Parts: sequence; C-alpha cells; structure tokens
Amino acid sequence: MNKTIEQIKEDALKEIEAASDSKKINDLSVRYLGRKGAVTQFLRTIASLPKEKRAEAGKKANKTKKSLDKAFKEALIQIETRSAAIEDSIDVSLPGRIVNHGSLHPITQITRQICDIFSRLGFAIAEGPEVETDYYNFEALNIPKNHPARDMQDTFYISQNIVLRTHTSPTQPRIMEKQKPPLRIIAPGKVYRCDSDLTHTPMFQQVEGLLVDRRVSFGDLKGILTTFIHQIFDDQTSLRFRPSFFPFTEPSAEVDIRCVMCRGKGCRVCSQTGWLEIIGAGMVHPAVFENVGYDTSVFTGFAFGMGIERIAMLKYGIDDIRKYYENDLRFLRQF
Ligand code: FA5
Repeated sequence: MNKTIEQIKEDALKEIEAASDSKKINDLSVRYLGRKGAVTQFLRTIASLPKEKRAEAGKKANKTKKSLDKAFKEALIQIETRSAAIEDSIDVSLPGRIVNHGSLHPITQITRQICDIFSRLGFAIAEGPEVETDYYNFEALNIPKNHPARDMQDTFYISQNIVLRTHTSPTQPRIMEKQKPPLRIIAPGKVYRCDSDLTHTPMFQQVEGLLVDRRVSFGDLKGILTTFIHQIFDDQTSLRFRPSFFPFTEPSAEVDIRCVMCRGKGCRVCSQTGWLEIIGAGMVHPAVFENVGYDTSVFTGFAFGMGIERIAMLKYGIDDIRKYYENDLRFLRQF
C-alpha cells in the first residue's frame, strides 16, 4: 500500500531526529526530497488522482516538501554547532601546561656585574659597532697595514677595509674623537677572532675601559684593576701584572689571576701555569692620542680590555669556554 504524504512526513521527521551526523542528514535529504525520493515520487502520483482531489493533494505535498527541506537544514546547523562546541571546550581535568620563564645568560649576568662595579667607580657606559673599519680596529690604534702586530689577532675580513672587530679597543678612538678629556668610560660588546679551543671561541665578549685625565699614572691603572678584581671575585684573589706588548699602549701589561680550577697547581685550563690571563692593559700610547687630536703634553690615560667569558669561567669554575655557547639548557639553568 502506498504511504500517505502525512506518513512520509512522520517517517522523515523520526529519521532526522535519530540522525547523528551531517552525512546521515544529507543521505536522508536525498532519500526524501531527491529526484527518486519519497516526496518527489508522491508528487508524481498526483496526476493520476481524480481531478477534484488533485489540487488539495498537490498543496499538501508541496507544504510537506517545504517543511522537510527546512527540517533538514535546521538539523544540519544543529549538528555543526554541537561539534564546534565540543572542539572548543576545555577539559578542566587535564593537568595545566607549565610556562617556561626565560633567564639571563650567565655572560649577560657577568657583564652587568662588571658594568655595575665600574659605574660605582665613576665610569660611563659606551658602545661601538661590531662590524668595524680597518681604520678604527687597527690604524687609529697605532697598528698600520702590514704591521706584524696584526697577526696577534686572527681577523675575519668582510672586505679589504671592513672587519668584524677583533677587540673592543676601536671604541677608544671613536669616543675620543667625540669627547674632550677628562673621560672615563667602559664599553662592553662582542668581538670576533678565528680561534677555537678550551679557552678561545670565535665570538667572545670583552669590556674595554678608558680613563684620560691630567697626571694619570700606571699606579692608577693598577689601583682600579685591583679594586675591580677584588670586587668581582673576592678580596683574597691573587693577581699579577705581567709586562706585555700592545701597539696602542706603552708600557703594557697583562693581568693574570690565580687559576681557580687547580688553585695555582697547574691544570689543562691554565696550561699548567697556575695563572689565567684575563685582562690586557697599559698607558694609552701617545700616537693614539695624536690620531684623535688630544694634547699629549697635558693628558695621559690608561686603557684595558678584559675577556668576559674568562671571568665567568673563573667565577663559576667552568673548565671549557665553549659550554657558554652550546645552548644546552641543562648547563644554562644552573646560573
Ligand atoms: C686585546 O684584545 C686588547 N685589545 C686588550 C687591551 C685593551 C690592551 C686596552 C691594552 C689596552 P687580548 O688579545 O689579550 O688583548 O685580549 C684581551 C682578553 O680577551 C684576554 O685577556 C682574554 O681574556 C680574552 N680573549 C682573547 N682572545 C679570546 C678568545 N678567542 N676567546 C675568549 N676570550 C679571549
């Protein structure tokens, strides 16, 4: 027996209600309203009804078609809204995610400590470029082209006249060109040399110091550096000034502190000497003052440059400088 349009509608609505996903709704829509669907088939039978019943049957069938069409659309919207809500919902029973807090790199921490000590001694903080001209890196510092002293630092050349600065000393002429004496500055920053082993890395950090005034002596240099070393380590730290050579200072010295790894007995970090060199220093060479137009009959000054990683190694008892730059979080989290 053929179903009435009311039965078709009732069956369709029951099936829509039971459908759990959008695919099922789409399939149902085809089964009821598609070309061979139940409602469409019913509409085709109307032509064979007695004439007086056709109009009434046609009206009912079209009304059913419209209301089923609406029911399918609404069911689809409901299913989509329900699944979006499930995706967005938060499972409050899950454990929370831990937010990792960053911390300062040990070299940054030491740099700040060094700057604090010198600030208290009246030094201002300055900076210079890491990509430097040959003039400031060498010539202004009394190291002319082809001078053997250029071999003391293995240089990364960008072009014939541009280098990655090999030390922070170029900040000396740069600052003196801009400021008249007296002056007292330190300049921390990265420097680059083609060098790599237990105590050398191709990129490392230095702090430059420069003090220019009337009647500055080597005694002042010794006093400032001794005070600094006793503050950054402790006042029992042994240090020594060893004669040395830098083209931009005369006389020159290197400052060593007693190796903290072996307490001076000799180990691989201090190359069995018991001492570790951390600072190069000296009285500013008159040729450097002449290059920046300072009157050498009135002013004298001292300069120094220290390796920050070396200080950090000694302070924290680290025996390999390369550890600072391997980005191993287990190492970095200790500081
Ligand atoms: C200089 O760089 C001079 N500009 C220092 C100076 C400044 C002397 C002002 C006089 C007046 P030196 O090459 O010795 O000097 O380096 C200074 C310090 O940098 C060393 O004592 C050492 O602590 C550190 N250092 C040098 N090379 C490396 C390297 N490859 N890796 C890590 N630290 C280094």
